[in-house]
Order: sequence, then C-alpha cells, then structure tokens
Amino acid sequence: MPNIGTRIILAPLSACSDLAYRVIAREYGAKFCFFEMIDAHSLVYDSPRANRILRTTPSDQPIAAQLLGLDQEVMLRAAEIILKRSPIRFLDINAACPARKVFKKGVGSCLFKNPTPLYELIAYLRERLPVPITVKMRVGLTRVDIPQAVQMAQGCQSAGASALFVHGRPRALENYGEVSYEAIRAVKQAVSIPVYGSGNVLNPPLAKKMLDLTGADGVLIAKGSFGNPFIFKEVEDYLQTGLWTPRLNILEKLSALKKHLLLAKDIDGERLNLRIGEMGKICLWYLKGFQEASRLRTKVFASRNSAELFDLINSLEDAAAR
Ligand SMILES: Cc1cc2nc3c(=O)[nH]c(=O)nc-3n(C[C@H](O)[C@H](O)[C@H](O)COP(=O)(O)O)c2cc1C
Repeated sequence: MPNIGTRIILAPLSACSDLAYRVIAREYGAKFCFFEMIDAHSLVYDSPRANRILRTTPSDQPIAAQLLGLDQEVMLRAAEIILKRSPIRFLDINAACPARKVFKKGVGSCLFKNPTPLYELIAYLRERLPVPITVKMRVGLTRVDIPQAVQMAQGCQSAGASALFVHGRPRALENYGEVSYEAIRAVKQAVSIPVYGSGNVLNPPLAKKMLDLTGADGVLIAKGSFGNPFIFKEVEDYLQTGLWTPRLNILEKLSALKKHLLLAKDIDGERLNLRIGEMGKICLWYLKGFQEASRLRTKVFASRNSAELFDLINSLEDAAAR
C-alpha cells in the first residue's frame, strides 16, 4: 500500500461522492478520496453513467477507484480505462455492496459466502496492473461472523491485497445500525496489511473510537460527510489535540452548500438544472439539523429550478445573518 499521507479517507459513496462532492470535501480538508463505485461491466461497455463517475480534474488527487465485478478480463479492462483517465493510487474491489441486484449477480457482499474467486481476481489483477489492489469487505451476511471475516481477510492478504477496508456491519444491516468493532479488531489482528475501519464514523469522537477499539490504521468517512465537508479537518484536529466542539454554524454551512451546488451545476450543466431532485438531495444534507427542517424540505422540493433554490438559500442566509 502506498503512503497516502492520511488516516482519514472519504469513502466510496454511490450516487453521492461525485466530482463536486470531492472538490468541496478537499476544499474543507479531505486529503484522500474515493471515486464512487464503478460497475466494471458498465464501464467496459461504455455506459454514460459509468463514464460520468470517472469525471475528475488534475487537482482531484490523491484518489482511489473502486470496481464492482468478478470477471477477470472485464475487471482488468475496466481498470485500464480508469488508469487512462486518472492516476489512481490503488484499485479497490467491492466485496461489500449489500444491494439485492448486486448480490444476485454473485458480486459485492455476496463474495463473503464464497471468496475463492475473489482471491483469484486479486492475484490476477495484481500481476497485471501497476497499482496496488485492495478490498472493501463486510463482517458477515445475516449476522456478524468473525471467523469467516478473519478467514476472508487472510485469504485476500495471501492473494496479494495491499490493504483492507472493513465495514463493521453484516450485509443485513446495509449501512445503518450497530457496528462490530470487535470484528474489525479481529481482522486487524489477523493480517499484517493496513486495515481501515468503516461504520458510524459520524464525528471526531466516533472516529477516535473506531481507531481505539479496533487498532485500525485509518477510517473511512461516509455518511458523516453528508452536508458536512468540515468533518475531515475536525477529525484530523481531534486526533491531534483531543478538542472538538460540536457546532452548527448555519452561515458556514450555507456557504458550503452554495459552493457545492454551483460546482454541481457547473459540472452537470443543464442536466442537473432539469433535475431539481439531485440538487434537492444536496440541500437536504446541509439543512439537516436546521430549525424547521421539515418546512424547508417542502420548500426545497417545491423549487422548480436552480434559480428558485438559490433564492431560498439566499433568504435563509439573510435570516441567519440578521
Ligand atoms: C449512499 C451510500 C452509498 C454508498 N456507496 C458505497 C459504494 O459505492 N461502495 C462501497 O464500498 N461502500 C458504499 N457505501 C458504504 C460506505 O462506504 C460506508 O462503508 C458505510 O456507509 C458505513 O459507514 P458510515 O456508517 O460511517 O456511513 C455507501 C453508503 C451509503 C450511505
């Protein structure tokens, strides 16, 4: 695993951590980001969505990519397409996605059941690609299964994986609910490659809890960064100083929201203008925790275009500044 210069990484977040999201995260302190997960088959067969996911800029670095798939040749071709577009630091194989349609295809979290083809894929890619291969895995399917998680982690390591990202929930919990720190700790103790913990890293103390209870080398920040690009620096600072004041600085949040929306609009142009739903989703992330959030939610989705949305945000800013 190359030295990536930080223990705090923006997680892969499908339909969320796009270029605008990453630019904002980096502006406020994220030092390492993932692209959204990319379906290898879609990328190789040139789907517009897979191509959109790979939009990047020279300053969108350092970065890693995550592929979903199991077919060796398709995964290799997809990785080569990615490498032509971005100098990624490593390539992650998704063995964690809980979605039913993914599971049915025998990929994502389904690999927990029978990881042998995953090991073969790691060895295959490792031999042919110039970047390290990592794996994002879970700790169970219907329930936490520490022996199987440990075995899978060791199998990945033996096949040549350079690091593991361990989401401490079984598939059944998807992305919510109790996290098994014990399972992540067991994996960390069973391998010598770096292990990053994921799950419930929603604020600086929870990041420290993940590191302290598991011995992990770093953490992935996922839902904790929704509407909260400040979290990366806050976690870095807290790990150094032990200081963190939970705060909701409305003006700061609205300013970040406006930057985020403008970037999204710049990048997505008319497409996003027509899709108030996507901009609305971004607004709701940032407005969470505001007084009268539910009334604001209705207003956000009553906006007919981005101009109306910006009018709404400007009026909130005026009210907050008074
Ligand atoms: C909307 C959403 C999209 C996600 N997309 C991905 C993905 O593409 N690849 C992946 O490995 N994990 C994905 N995850 C899982 C997160 O990376 C992370 O492991 C999980 O949310 C647990 O962390 P948290 O409890 O701190 O949010 C996603 C999670 C959410 C909520």
